[in-house]
Amino acid sequence: MDRELDAERVRAVHRKFVTGVTVVTTADGDTPRGLAVNAFCSVSLEPPLVLVCVQKSSSTHGVLWRSTHLGINILAADQISVARVFASKATDKFAGLNWAPGPNGSPLLAGSSAAVEVRIGERLEAHSHTVFTGRVVHAEHSDAEPLIYSAGRFLRTSELVDAS
Ligand SMILES: Cc1cc2nc3c(=O)[nH]c(=O)nc-3n(C[C@H](O)[C@H](O)[C@H](O)COP(=O)(O)O)c2cc1C
Repeated sequence: MDRELDAERVRAVHRKFVTGVTVVTTADGDTPRGLAVNAFCSVSLEPPLVLVCVQKSSSTHGVLWRSTHLGINILAADQISVARVFASKATDKFAGLNWAPGPNGSPLLAGSSAAVEVRIGERLEAHSHTVFTGRVVHAEHSDAEPLIYSAGRFLRTSELVDAS
C-alpha cells in the first residue's frame, strides 16, 4: 500500500520541470475547440508518436474523446495572451484569432512556434485525466521562439542562459 504523499511536496517537484505551452484543439462540427496543455511530450520519432494529458473535467474533453484527430499548437513567446485564453473557460476562445483547419480538420493557430496534427491512437484513462496518444500526420514549424513555462511563470528563451 502506497503512503499518502503531501500534495504540496508533489507540486514542488513538478515546479522543477520546465515545459512549453501547447493549445490542444479539435473541431466540434463547425465549432473550433481547445485548451492550454503543457502535459505534451514526444513518445517516439519513428514512428512519430506523441501524447497529451487532458483532465476529464475540461469542457473540451468530451469532444476530444470523440475525435479521430487533434491539433497540438506549440505556442510562441508572444502568445502569452493566447495561452491565458485557452487556459480559461471563455465561451469562444478562437474569437479574434487567426487559425485554419489542418488537413484533417483540427484548428491550427497562426503565429504558433510549431503545430502538428495527430491521428488519435489510444485513450488511456488515468484517474482524473485521459492520456491521448497519437501519430503525427501533419507537422509545421516557424522561426518564432517557443513560449516557456516554469513554476507557474511564462518565460522567453531570450531570458534563459545557454548552459551547454
Ligand atoms: C500553462 C498551463 C498548462 C496547462 N496544462 C494542462 C494540461 O496539461 N492538461 C489539462 O487538462 N489542463 C491543463 N491546463 C488547464 C486547462 O487549460 C484549463 O483547465 C482550461 O480552463 C480548460 O478549458 P476547457 O474546460 O474549456 O476545456 C493548463 C493551464 C495552463 C495555464
